[in-house]
Amino acid sequence: MSFRVPFVIAIDGPAASGKSTVAKGVARALDCVFVNSGEMYRAFTWWVLENGIDPNNADAVITLLNETSFACGEEEMIGYVEIQGRRLSDEQLKNDAINSSVSAIAAIPEVRERLVEEQRGFARFPALVMEGRDIGTVVFADTPYKFFVDASPEIRAARRSAEGIEDSIEARDLADSMRKASPLKQATDAIRIDTSEMGPDEVVAVVVDSISLNKEAA
Ligand code: C5P
Repeated sequence: MSFRVPFVIAIDGPAASGKSTVAKGVARALDCVFVNSGEMYRAFTWWVLENGIDPNNADAVITLLNETSFACGEEEMIGYVEIQGRRLSDEQLKNDAINSSVSAIAAIPEVRERLVEEQRGFARFPALVMEGRDIGTVVFADTPYKFFVDASPEIRAARRSAEGIEDSIEARDLADSMRKASPLKQATDAIRIDTSEMGPDEVVAVVVDSISLNKEAA
């Protein structure tokens, strides 16, 4: 397949919906750079906590934001973010402390504005799969390729605990859906996929097929 430049596939959905697995699979199948935008919010949350700042103190968080450098790039087709020149490990990004603070920080409009700018910088790559909460509604709202991946609350909770991670996904989803600045919601033109009863390969195939059909029709 050959694509218009830049070609962006937006995959949004709540926590533990399976969107990361699907986004990675689609990126591999279509030779796209894969970007997990949640990692950027997690990285900045790590930096806030590292500096001893209360995530609910928006003024202090914004002051830190204005002193913080971000650098984004790609390695082996996977996007990464460096914060103050540091790449963080999975353990640093995915733990209890980050899970319980990230939504408060992601609700601050100034934080979103800055990270959205970094996320849009990935459009310098010819083909991109980006997953998150607001990719189809805000970050790449013009892309014709948008998917909203969801699963039942029971399945999502089971998937998360199978990963051995403590994560208050309900609280996070509620905060992410209720915030004023670009809340988690399905774009009106996104294709919704309920992954509750589907395996990862099946979901990847649905996305890839629907992009092929969409391209043929264009
Ligand atoms: O995708 P992940 O669960 O790692 O995202 C962590 C948190 O980052 C989300 O709960 C949400 O608060 C925030 N986020 C966001 N917008 C995105 C991606 C993530 O607000 N595009």
